Amino acid sequence: MKTKLVIGNWKMNLDFGAAEDLATSIQEAIENFNLKTEVAICPPFPFLELVTDLADESNFYAGAQNCSQYDNGAYTGEVSAAMLASLGVNFCIVGHSERRKLFNESNEVVARKVDKLIAEDLIPVVCCGEQLEDRKAGRHFEVVEKQVKESLFHLAKNDFEHVVIAYEPVWAIGTGETATPAQASEMHAFIRGLVEKKYGSEMAYNTYILYGGSCNAKNALELFSSPDVDGGLIGGASLKSADFVEIIEAAETSVSEN
Ligand code: PGA
Repeated sequence: MKTKLVIGNWKMNLDFGAAEDLATSIQEAIENFNLKTEVAICPPFPFLELVTDLADESNFYAGAQNCSQYDNGAYTGEVSAAMLASLGVNFCIVGHSERRKLFNESNEVVARKVDKLIAEDLIPVVCCGEQLEDRKAGRHFEVVEKQVKESLFHLAKNDFEHVVIAYEPVWAIGTGETATPAQASEMHAFIRGLVEKKYGSEMAYNTYILYGGSCNAKNALELFSSPDVDGGLIGGASLKSADFVEIIEAAETSVSEN
């Protein structure tokens, strides 16, 4: 089984001091682990340099939560992929459901951001996931297929290989309601099938497909034990060092058990 990837998404939480405490405490907790799992932390922009500095001397990576679809210039408030790259950031979340919903981010915008990130050698973590009403109406596969295809399938094979996909059912984000391991596995296998059809079976196997949505220290092992779940994008539970570290340990265990 391939190694897992665990990414913490701090969203718009913490202040500088609390961010420093959290990042340092995660670093101290995992610095002596001989980790096979890849770990990344995505703080808000003002705390990114703090995390890239720590990441330089640690066994985790720094990631951002968003980037601009534009290169540079008169875009007040925006942060470009090139700026992130110049800080030493390695990952960037794009198309999170909160951005899709609250900031009107369409698949087309997500696709442009993906292109900017790839041009800067950053790894886009592209989120997809259905709303509760989509699932209730049995439209969840259709919705996710459209998001994945329109955000990513314009990429050439040698660019697609740098992409991470995160399946985050919107009804599970921050709600305490997690997709069952069977629901997660089913959707992950479906997404992998889409990748296989477009880019071939080797790419499908190699593509990381993370689960996100109320993943926590208690349910991580069960979720990660599915061969199609390559790790997690963790929101709330990444804000407590002990919980986040337990999730990383679950990722390690899930690989060694298989
Ligand atoms: P949650 O968030 O773990 O708090 O549900 C996940 C995410 O939005 O990435």
